[in-house]
Amino acid sequence: MARPPEEPKSRSEPRGNAVSQSIDALLADEVKVPPPPGMKDQANVRDLEIFDRFSEEHFPACFEEYARLLDWDRPWRTVLDTSKAPFWKWFVGGELNAAYNCVDRHLERHGDKAALIFVSEDESQPAQAVSYRDLYRRVNEFACLLRDFAGIRRGDRITFHLPMTPELPVSMLAAARIGAVHCQVFGGFSGAACGTRIADSGSRVLVTMDGYYRNGHWISHLDNVGAAVETAESLGQPVEKVLIWQRTPGKPPGSYRLKEGRDFYLDEVLPRYHGKAVPPERMRSEDPLFLMYTSGTTGRPKGCQHSTGGYLAYVTTTAKYILDIKPQDVYWCTADIGWITGHSYVVYGPLALGTTSVLYEGVPSYPDAERPWRISESLGVTIFHTSPTAIRQLRKTNPEGPARHKCRYRVLVSVGEPIEPEVWRWYHGKVGKGRAAVVDTWWQTETGGFLCSTLPAIHPMKPGSTGPALPGIYPVILDEEGQPVERGSGRAGNICIRNPWPGIFQTIWGDPQRFVDQYYKRYNRDPKSTDWRDWPYFTGDGALEDTDGYYRILGRIDDVIKVAGHRLGAKELESACLQVPGVAEAAAVPLADEVKGRVPDIYVALRPGVTPSSEMADRVKTTIIERIGKIAAPQHVYIVEDMPKTRSGKIMRRVLAAISNGVEPGDVSTLVNPEVVDAIRMIAGRRVGEGPGLSGETIRREVRDLD
Ligand code: WT7
Repeated sequence: MARPPEEPKSRSEPRGNAVSQSIDALLADEVKVPPPPGMKDQANVRDLEIFDRFSEEHFPACFEEYARLLDWDRPWRTVLDTSKAPFWKWFVGGELNAAYNCVDRHLERHGDKAALIFVSEDESQPAQAVSYRDLYRRVNEFACLLRDFAGIRRGDRITFHLPMTPELPVSMLAAARIGAVHCQVFGGFSGAACGTRIADSGSRVLVTMDGYYRNGHWISHLDNVGAAVETAESLGQPVEKVLIWQRTPGKPPGSYRLKEGRDFYLDEVLPRYHGKAVPPERMRSEDPLFLMYTSGTTGRPKGCQHSTGGYLAYVTTTAKYILDIKPQDVYWCTADIGWITGHSYVVYGPLALGTTSVLYEGVPSYPDAERPWRISESLGVTIFHTSPTAIRQLRKTNPEGPARHKCRYRVLVSVGEPIEPEVWRWYHGKVGKGRAAVVDTWWQTETGGFLCSTLPAIHPMKPGSTGPALPGIYPVILDEEGQPVERGSGRAGNICIRNPWPGIFQTIWGDPQRFVDQYYKRYNRDPKSTDWRDWPYFTGDGALEDTDGYYRILGRIDDVIKVAGHRLGAKELESACLQVPGVAEAAAVPLADEVKGRVPDIYVALRPGVTPSSEMADRVKTTIIERIGKIAAPQHVYIVEDMPKTRSGKIMRRVLAAISNGVEPGDVSTLVNPEVVDAIRMIAGRRVGEGPGLSGETIRREVRDLD
């Protein structure tokens, strides 16, 4: 399985003429775009020699270069400890504090500089700068409150259910300062979804906010507290304190009634800690910094545990090398901090580098699709980071919008889903005015930071392809039998990373067996081995590699549906449906969407005697929203008489996905009830060939039948 080390030179050469026979014939023809001229003289990484420094013969010591960007209280003894494979430990013996690295160490030189610029969705509100000195004060006061008022100690988990305001990074850094493990739950998730994460992480304290602005509306976020606490308690985890930030101090609390002795407005408690400082805890490099919950094959979200030293070193250095962040940059990433992109590339990476990170409260297209360009122009944003969904939306609504503004981006970043070549060209041509480097970064919640991307000053860009692997990342595409797919053949397979790297997550919180089973077991050659070469990391993505060493990511192969770049588990959607009385069976499948990439379509079969009705379908939809959140709202809920099933009783999700997307379902001879196909097609009201849907090939790769 081992393959020769990368040959750096081949990376920048134009692609050869090998014909890729499969799906990607079209993309393989995509012409490469050279990096912007002039960038090479100023970029943080200026030549391909970096790939020599990070070649396999220098692994793992090469990653000391990453750790050296941080301030350590105590140096590490061992770069990589593999003795408990695949539970890798990076920079063992080293001690440091993440909040110190993101705040304190910048005070002397950059104390007055803006660490954060908060932009309210309400455009009449002026942008608010939080200097590194302000941030230091706010982090210390809240850290003190967490310790002395909420009784939080080193190693305790604490759940945040916060929207996009400066209180979120303040809370994260305060937790990190005292060595607590923060678990931020995406603010758009429902109270119930927050509650399951409180219970899983064993948090005694919930930090939330009264509300926030989204799409022009005041969202009364406090209404989620009841469901969060009840759900956590029903799962055996009592919540002792709920600490409530106020988006606008003095605003009346709406219908929510605070529970005496448990719920506290921080505006009332925080003044007691005015001017107080807390020394940063000396954390071991491998102590957990945070948990980030994400979806996978089963119905239960996984708490991905990220380390302090390895994670912080990885995000800091990749922010410097790939995003090309310099201290004088104004950097804006639109990702919600409730997802990994926000943790790594709104908060930890940029702040560790001492740059200015813009934090925008709302949706990019509010009140109109020129808002991002107005914000960028007025704040002088130099690096802009967003998702293909946002780019598609902005382009669709106002394709000429960027031309009306004097934005001067040096780097444009795309993350979270594949970006279509024509969308890429708009981003590069109209948003970047042809002068910016576009980096299409591929990675995952589990990987902490980027895995594949072009280097902005060096590599030619190829629309629709993420690019080559980052320095020190050695991918391989394996087939079902574990054999490497021939390099440059353009044949699809399962993309894996052969080696550990500092940003890789440490385990699934509370479930180390699931960690090994889902990410390493598949291609592991010897479960007792302590040699990293025996433990390729299984990403769950399908991909192909072109002759130039650029990867093209084809999408998930593990029942994850990426909706507007957000990761939803088909099983999670299905278990939500099964909560509705009368529903006997449920299947969730991806439906192509012009803006969001994919949206879920739901099929349910009812118990005998239950009458199908539109109320029933509505109940399924509202239950999904209650249990997961609005982002999971299905496009359609179809009530069917019978699910297409195999002889062994598996629900054939692929057949349903084919019906939703208007393509031929392919071979249905294994069905026990082939006659249901036409009946379901009638209900779904979609004929073959109608409208743009996912191709049969994509469905076969992305959708699996249900046990
Ligand atoms: C999945 C991970 C990456 C952080 C935010 C999402 C898909 C991610 C790309 C890209 C094509 C991409 C993959 C991956 N994905 N980036 N540049 N091109 N696909 O993290 O929620 O854990 O999702 O997002 O399928 O596995 P996540």
